[in-house]
Amino acid sequence: MILIDGKKEAAELREKLKQEVAELKLKYNKVPGLTVILIGDMAPSQIYVRNKERSANEVGLKSEVIKYPETVEEKTVLEKIEELNNDKTVSGILVQLPLPNHIDKKKVIETILPSKDVDGFHPTNVGNLSSGYESSVPCTPLGCYLLIKKIEPNLSGKKAVVVGRSNLNGKPMTQLLLKENCTVTITHSRTKDLKAECLEADIIVAAVGIPELVRGDWVKKDTIVIDVGINKTDNGIVGDVNFEEVSKNAKAMTPVPGGVGPMTIACLLKNTIDCFKRSQN
Ligand code: GUN
Repeated sequence: MILIDGKKEAAELREKLKQEVAELKLKYNKVPGLTVILIGDMAPSQIYVRNKERSANEVGLKSEVIKYPETVEEKTVLEKIEELNNDKTVSGILVQLPLPNHIDKKKVIETILPSKDVDGFHPTNVGNLSSGYESSVPCTPLGCYLLIKKIEPNLSGKKAVVVGRSNLNGKPMTQLLLKENCTVTITHSRTKDLKAECLEADIIVAAVGIPELVRGDWVKKDTIVIDVGINKTDNGIVGDVNFEEVSKNAKAMTPVPGGVGPMTIACLLKNTIDCFKRSQN
């Protein structure tokens, strides 16, 4: 079994991006800039945002975090986004989710200029991805995709099963695998026989948020298993895949932590650089 080392892959990607930023700096005499908006003081969001800022600085991006209290008015946030849309030093804008209930997530996402939407959440980017056009791609599925490609460069004709249909993970993951000519099955909480579906798969991407849902006898030999789950349990953080069981069958799999997580942030940096490059053309 190949244990996919997301930490190592992410470090390699960051190194490549660091060089790219240095080249862009020489060429354009400026560097891509990432601005993150953080509302409230939820601990996980604080940690994510701190990691994002550290990684952005490490590869040489200009990075800024704008913090608002939980009680900030929606109008204030939307006006700030408009200001960032018009700021030429800002290549990418990310509003950390989840948002407080009084702020309309859809409105926030749609206010971000699609060309600065490093999350790939704007309907224009979602549509471009599903139509096979150039777009920002959500960071987590992009990271999963890069890990899968590293193990299996030619995915054409492979059977992929995506467990979970969220806008953040399952749906964009499906689009990326389709683009690679996989036969993709999207499964979810109402799927009749999830085990039977998974047993057909050459590639499984589990992104449902159910601790250790995917079991050893759900996975045939030679399957690549990507675990997007981060679930807090009494036994600590576990993924959506039962690692101990599945590692006995799978050809390759990601651990939790140290698998998909580190790639997500590296892909955010990649998206920021890609937005910058497109804005220069
Ligand atoms: N919160 C958890 N994951 C994400 C993400 O990928 N993007 C944003 N904006 N917020 C998140």
